[in-house]
Amino acid sequence: MGNNSDEKTKKVIDKHYLSGKEVRAIAKANAKEMRRLEKAKNRVIPESEYVTQMRDENNILEIENLHSYFFTDQGVVKAVNGVSFDIPLNSTVGVVGESGCGKSVTSMSVMRLLQGPSGQIVEGSIRFKAYDFKVDPNGEYIPVYVKDEDGNVVMEEELNEDGTPRLLKDGSPVLKPKLMRDENGMTVYEKEEKVFDIAKMPIKQMYRLRGRQMSMVFQEPMTSLNPIFTIGDQLDEVTLLHVPGATKAMAKEHSINMLNLVGIAMPERVYKSYPHELSGGMRQRVMIAMALAGEPRLIIADEPTTALDVTIQAQILSLFNDLKKRINGSILLITHDLGVIAEMADYVVVMYAGRIIEKGTASEIFHKPCHPYTQGLQKSKPTMTSSEDKLFNIPGNVPNPINMPDHCYFKERCGKCLKKCSGDYPEMVQVSPTHFVACHLYAEEEKRG
Ligand SMILES: Nc1ncnc2c1ncn2[C@@H]1O[C@H](COP(=O)(O)OP(=O)(O)OP(=O)(O)O)[C@@H](O)[C@H]1O
Ligand code: SF4
Ligand SMILES: [Mg+2]
Repeated sequence: MGNNSDEKTKKVIDKHYLSGKEVRAIAKANAKEMRRLEKAKNRVIPESEYVTQMRDENNILEIENLHSYFFTDQGVVKAVNGVSFDIPLNSTVGVVGESGCGKSVTSMSVMRLLQGPSGQIVEGSIRFKAYDFKVDPNGEYIPVYVKDEDGNVVMEEELNEDGTPRLLKDGSPVLKPKLMRDENGMTVYEKEEKVFDIAKMPIKQMYRLRGRQMSMVFQEPMTSLNPIFTIGDQLDEVTLLHVPGATKAMAKEHSINMLNLVGIAMPERVYKSYPHELSGGMRQRVMIAMALAGEPRLIIADEPTTALDVTIQAQILSLFNDLKKRINGSILLITHDLGVIAEMADYVVVMYAGRIIEKGTASEIFHKPCHPYTQGLQKSKPTMTSSEDKLFNIPGNVPNPINMPDHCYFKERCGKCLKKCSGDYPEMVQVSPTHFVACHLYAEEEKRG
């Protein structure tokens, strides 16, 4: 996959510049690959081609060998290059790493929001366990009816607009099966658990998941909120879109509930406000309310607190922690801040230059970091007692993403290099049932132990 353009890129990239002919050759190879991938995205295929099984029923998301690339005229940027990790049900998984390591591209791949045609998922699986509305052969949702003790559907009188019973010609009332309604008066529809391979799903089918099953909170809420609509309008829209049968009045009630849930004190007033009338912290709370409105099972938060002051950051993080318990869902938390991860995550994934170099439980990553890069990150973490100018910095730079070496990507910056580090890229080594590291230092230990 993408081999043609890869080879062409490799040949020319060893030089510092590209000639016009070389750029044209890359562009031609890229165009072909992009056309193929765009076409695959828009194919009409039966559900059986993208409905699958989880490897482990205790997970909500399983990412396996994900490759997401950008096809540029300079060559192929392998932004995510073979990433695999799981998100267990009701847990928070933190993804951490320096700027440009592929954190956002990983999350955008899960949401299928990579900007095509240049950004594409090229290989891999993203299995997601959805709990979605069941549909009949006509594609309609199936309502749940109220049943009596013997299991028979309860019938009720149908009403006219003025509230009087509708009558047949002989004067007897028109009866209809009684619909089950939830506490907000909304019709209850049958649901079923289904596993989708998001990476293989036609892009048009993603409406079934985005907003309702999984939603995203971005770093800068102003870019996601529409300045010309009130907060209320934007929140209501999510409910109207994702809850079948919801009326405007129901949507408003739901929106106010959501604003309450995210700790907004005067929800009625905020409901009527425009985004620019709110502070940064309030806008981020609104974004979280919006992400929650469709009652998703997975929330992806990409640097949700980076644009906020430290005190507001702490409030938003504790809000996330609180919500996780209340919504019965999972959180994928993306940040370059190890301190944030320490507060929040159950599991941690450390990325470096498009790959995972270490993953484990939060306790393993914090108390027993194995990879020299994770150890460096730990040391560079600001603490209450260290002043900023004393911060440890990992020297050196990440290699050029278009021309990654064949050996360990961290080698040029690593202080623990072995002879074999100039050889093949290190395999993932298991150091505990939950702890994995890609570094030659541990391969020997595994052989011994
Ligand atoms: N549209 C694009 N075209 C080309 N390359 C891109 C594009 N978007 C991202 N990349 C590249 O993909 C790589 C991963 O980017 P990504 O945005 O995922 O980093 P990140 O880990 O989220 O960084 P940050 O902490 O700064 O948000 C980077 O090398 C980046 O330059
Ligand atoms: S594989 Fe070698 S170069 Fe890479 S991090 Fe481990 S010790 Fe350092
Ligand atoms: Mg990012």
